[in-house]
This record gives sequence, structure tokens and C-alpha cells, in this order.
Amino acid sequence: MMADRRTTVLLSVLLFASAAAFVEELDDSFMETKGDDEIWLIKFYAPWCTFCKQLDPVWHQIGSELRSLGSPVHIGKSDATANTGLAKEFRVRTYPAILMLKKNIKYNYSGARTKEGIMDFANRIAGPLVRSLSSVQLFHHAMSRHDVMFVYVGATSPLKGNYTSVAEQLIVHTYFFSASRDVLPKAVSLSTLPAVVVFKDGTYFTYSEERDGDLKLWINRERFPNFSQIDSYTLYAMGETGKLVLLALVEEKHLCEESLRYKSLLENVAAEHRESYSRDMYFGFMAGSDYISGLVMGEIIVPTFIVVNLSNDGYFLPPGTVQTEHNLLDFLDGVLNGSVQGHGGNGALQRVRRLVYDTRVTLAPVFSQAPLLGCFLVAFPLTIGACFCYLCFKARPTVVDEDGTPLLAPPLGGHKKTSKKKSD
Ligand SMILES: *[C@@H]1O[C@H](CO)[C@@H](O)[C@H](O)[C@H]1NC(C)=O
Ligand SMILES: *[C@@H]1O[C@H](CO)[C@@H](O)[C@H](O)[C@H]1NC(C)=O
Repeated sequence: MMADRRTTVLLSVLLFASAAAFVEELDDSFMETKGDDEIWLIKFYAPWCTFCKQLDPVWHQIGSELRSLGSPVHIGKSDATANTGLAKEFRVRTYPAILMLKKNIKYNYSGARTKEGIMDFANRIAGPLVRSLSSVQLFHHAMSRHDVMFVYVGATSPLKGNYTSVAEQLIVHTYFFSASRDVLPKAVSLSTLPAVVVFKDGTYFTYSEERDGDLKLWINRERFPNFSQIDSYTLYAMGETGKLVLLALVEEKHLCEESLRYKSLLENVAAEHRESYSRDMYFGFMAGSDYISGLVMGEIIVPTFIVVNLSNDGYFLPPGTVQTEHNLLDFLDGVLNGSVQGHGGNGALQRVRRLVYDTRVTLAPVFSQAPLLGCFLVAFPLTIGACFCYLCFKARPTVVDEDGTPLLAPPLGGHKKTSKKKSD
């Protein structure tokens, strides 16, 4: 027993020592003490946050892997509740927050908290803003690694200037490449040079300022494949493009026959009707219905099709069963021309529903494990609220409208758009 314990202690000390070597603990003095050219990947955490703890082993792995790859990226972490100055400097609002610092610009990571996702982000930010593909081999290599690839083609020009400044803002989301015309396959036809081209979905599209408007908005809209597997992080990010997302919701694992049919039906429609819908819509399938159940605030039975409007948390469900491609297209057209009834949204009533729903979801486990505590958690704020209302009504005369009916509550406010917080 004793020996076991000693080994454990020794192991923990060793683990701690090796982890400490890769991951530095940063405090408020960091901004003054770091070198000017240093590139940092930093995790901000709070001691009580479970998601932060779950990230610890991943963070250590990333630290050791970046080190062994000879990456120039330094890796650190900081307790945001203790080092509030540093957390404020990085505008940390939620935990864990993952950020990079390069040349005094801060980049916010918002993807899935996996080793692969974070390493890819770190390597993307650490490298050049625009990566030059100087040979046919490099071009093919990049093509094989990226589902969506933006390439600037041509010599230096004002368009290149615009492209580079867009890269500075959107590098958190995607890679930016440049190449000369002779590096691209012969089959790619470009009417003029310079040009900005996106390669995706087995084809390519050329940017036209006249048709597509602002370059940054175009790149932001086009940075996802037309059809893909979508997780909750991707779905949220797709919201920023302003496009709707048509999802086939299927089981998390072991897809039933019906789910497979939904998936392939959607994939066909995405490919064959790309021209008609790609301006307004992305297509994809999502494994598991938890996230969407939260969005619609109810049980969702898989498989199903659903169109989600991330700009206002609205959604559309097919009015009948979808058997054929024709049914699915009717549904899409109905959504776009307004004849299919939308649900959800971010109006006042919806927000109240969301508050109730979120409270219920948060409290349900408390109730089942500790009913008394649950009652207290619910009863306490209710009592305070009731006392408060009582005092308000007592203090003020009853508000009466023109025909003499007392107004108990102010009329519900109009629809307000929730502004998604963006950090720079
Ligand atoms: C660069 O961007 C500016 C404003 O964003 C735009 O007016 C201009 O036409 C763009 N130039 C090129 C060559 O795309
Ligand atoms: C999606 O939401 C935006 C923002 O509220 C709205 O302007 C747009 O019309 C909605 N799209 C559909 C198809 O409802």
C-alpha cells in the first residue's frame, strides 16, 4: 500500500513537473514581461469551472506536442479570477477562454475544444497570414487537406491588399492562400487576373465585386462546404454568414435506415440544386438532437429535417412527411417565400419561454438529486420577486388604460435582435 502511494505521489510530481515545463502559468505582469515577437496560446480559466478542468489534460498534450514539433508558439494558462488585469486585457467573458496573441493582435478561438481543433488554430495563426503556394505539388497538397480553400491568384494589386486585410480578420476561421496562375490546374478558367477563387465542393467559384459585394462578407459567407457534417460550434459559426441551415437530424450513432435515406436525400438536393439555394442556405446533417432540442425547447424525434435561422434563433419544420426530393424542395421554397410557418425567434415571448426552459433544464437534476435544495432554489427567488412586486404595486397607484381596464403588465416589447458578441 505504502509503496503504491509513493509511486502515485512520485508520478504526480513527475507529471506536474513535465506539464509545468510546457505550460506556463501567467499573471498580470505577462504583458510587460513577454517578448515582442513571441506568439502565445493562452487558456483563461476559473478554479470552479468544470469545463476548464476537462480541458487541462488536452492543454498539457497540446503544450508537449507543440514543443516537440518545434513550434514557435508558447503555451500558457491564467486564472482569470486571480489575474483580473490580464483577463480584462484579453476581454475574457466566459470560461474557458482560448486566445492567441501575435504581434499584439489577439485572436479568439471559438471552435470545439479538442486537441486537433486547437492545434490547427494555433498553427494557422502562428503561420503567415497569406500562405504562398509556390508549386503545383504544394497546391495539390493544400487541396487534399482543406475542404474549403481561398486562393488569391495573380501579382500584387489593390485586390491583394484587400484580401490580406480580410485575412487578418478572418484567419481565426479559415486559411488564406495565394498562387500564380500556372500553379492552378489548367481546367480552372479565370476571365481576368488578379482573382480571388474559392475551391470547394469539388469545384471552384470566382469572386466578383459587382455580383458578390464586399470581399470580407463574401469570404465569410463561402467559408463552409455546401454540404457537411455540422456540430453545434459550426452551426453557431454559420449563423454569422446570415445563411439559413437545412439540417437532417439523425441519431448520434447507428443510423437507422430512415436516417440514412434522409442524409442521402439531402446530399443529393444540396449537390443538384446548389445554384438555386447556395446563396441562402447551407446543407448538412447533425448527429444527435440535444443541441436542436435546446434550440426549439422541446423533444425532437429523429430523423427529421429542420431549417434553422441562426440570425434570430428561428426554425422551420416540414408541414408533412418528406418522402421525395420533390417534398424537400417544396419545403425549402416554402421557407424562402414565407409560406411555411416559422417558429421560435427572439421576440419577447420567446425569451420568456427560453428563461423558463433554461431554468427547468438547469434545475431538473437538482430536483431529482436533492428535492429540498431544489425547492429552496425555486422558492427563494420567487418569494423575493413576490415581495418586490407587492411593494411596487403598493407604492404606485394602479395603472389604468383609456377604457378603464387596469394594466397589470406593460405591453410586450417588440422583437429585438440579440447581438452576438464578437471579440477581436
Ligand atoms: C478594396 O476595398 C474597398 C473598400 O472595402 C473597395 O472600395 C475597393 O473597390 C476594393 N478594391 C478592389 C480592387 O477590390
Ligand atoms: C432570418 O432572420 C433574419 C433576422 O431576423 C431575418 O431578417 C430573415 O428574414 C430570417 N429568414 C427567414 C427565412 O425567416
